[in-house]
Amino acid sequence: MSTATQVSSAKAETKMIPIYIMGKRYEVPESLTIMKAMEYAGYKYIRGCGCRGGICGACATVYRVPGDYKIRVGLACQTVVEPDMYLTQLPFYPANRAMYDFSVLEGKAEEIFSLYPELFRCVACNACTKVCPMDVQVMDYIATLKRGDIAAAAQISFDCIQCGLCASRCMGELPQYHIAQLARRINGALLAPRAEHLVNMVAKIETGHFQKGLDELKGMDEDTLKKVYTEREMEPATGEEEWAPQDNTYL
Ligand code: SF4
Ligand code: SF4
Ligand code: FES
Repeated sequence: MSTATQVSSAKAETKMIPIYIMGKRYEVPESLTIMKAMEYAGYKYIRGCGCRGGICGACATVYRVPGDYKIRVGLACQTVVEPDMYLTQLPFYPANRAMYDFSVLEGKAEEIFSLYPELFRCVACNACTKVCPMDVQVMDYIATLKRGDIAAAAQISFDCIQCGLCASRCMGELPQYHIAQLARRINGALLAPRAEHLVNMVAKIETGHFQKGLDELKGMDEDTLKKVYTEREMEPATGEEEWAPQDNTYL
């Protein structure tokens, strides 16, 4: 069978399903993600798309399926289309984001309370947790912050990708993800124990410890550099905590 025939036969075997994008009906292959289906239908992403890998939070999408009263949500780059789904994207959700000079913050819960007084408008409905595509326990980190535990809130919200869906469903009008981001910033900069190995590494960089190795690498031709890279000693997947390479030419 010729390649052209194989391609057209594969196309013929592809099951097409109807979906509705912002009210207009399109037929798209059933195996596509919402993002690819929208592109298949002729939409071009300028905003509302970033990593395409479920990490950046740019592609929050809301939709319904027939026979279900629920508004569903998902990331367009991760959610596969369903027959007759009726969807639109939320390229940006205009949640309040407080302005602050981070350098003057001291890491006190009262600072978060003052920047985001709406924190106390939470009525514990849990709609935010139900809508989160990353399964972050949103209501829990809000409750934790209300109790003043910034470190715990930073931990609970760690997987947040800032998609904004939680804020879109909040009856208390909280910008949960912006509040949690501030908590993580404060925790990382002011509360978490210092990483001594990082301090040591920065000191080594600043004193030029790696300069000789860098100069040597920069002087290599492309093939030599590729060889050095591919033959480098790699940490085994199940390496010990204290693992270090035997060859420390560039370390
Ligand atoms: S949706 Fe808003 S009000 Fe409801 S639990 Fe979450 S933060 Fe609180
Ligand atoms: S916490 Fe909110 S902004 Fe973060 S990933 Fe979940 S829904 Fe998106
Ligand atoms: S494009 Fe980044 S999460 Fe979907």
